Amino acid sequence: MKKQILVAAFAAIAAQGAAAADPAAGAKIADAQCAACHGKDGKTPTDPSYPKIAGQYPDYLLKSLNDYHTGGRKNAIMGAIAKPLSKADMQNLAAYFGSLPGPLTHRK
Ligand code: HEC
Repeated sequence: MKKQILVAAFAAIAAQGAAAADPAAGAKIADAQCAACHGKDGKTPTDPSYPKIAGQYPDYLLKSLNDYHTGGRKNAIMGAIAKPLSKADMQNLAAYFGSLPGPLTHRK
């Protein structure tokens, strides 16, 4: 009985590990789909209306992307971009941009 509980606990931990964000995968999407506006480093946007996102808290980035994805946050540009992203894509993008040095947080 105890053994079964342990196995279940380890399975849960392993599943969490598999779902952990992969910033390198996020970087690939970022270069292809985000750099044109937000800049390759996430902090040199190509227009003043495009926000800096490098160094922002990953939780905030993920919530923003998810809200654009669901339509809870409305913006024609970001809505169109976030719509086709999977949950994993959004997690990986949030982890990537959150890991970059930027002016927004404690990361300098
Ligand atoms: C065509 C230009 C363009 C592209 C490409 C683009 N964005 Fe954006 N992004 C914007 C604009 C404009 C806003 C501001 C929208 C608003 O007012 O809500 C924005 C906002 C955001 C925000 C919210 C920032 C904040 O401080 O709330 C995030 C996160 C974001 N973009 C991530 C991405 C990611 C990730 C990609 C690539 C998958 C991407 N963007 C591609 C133009 C772009």
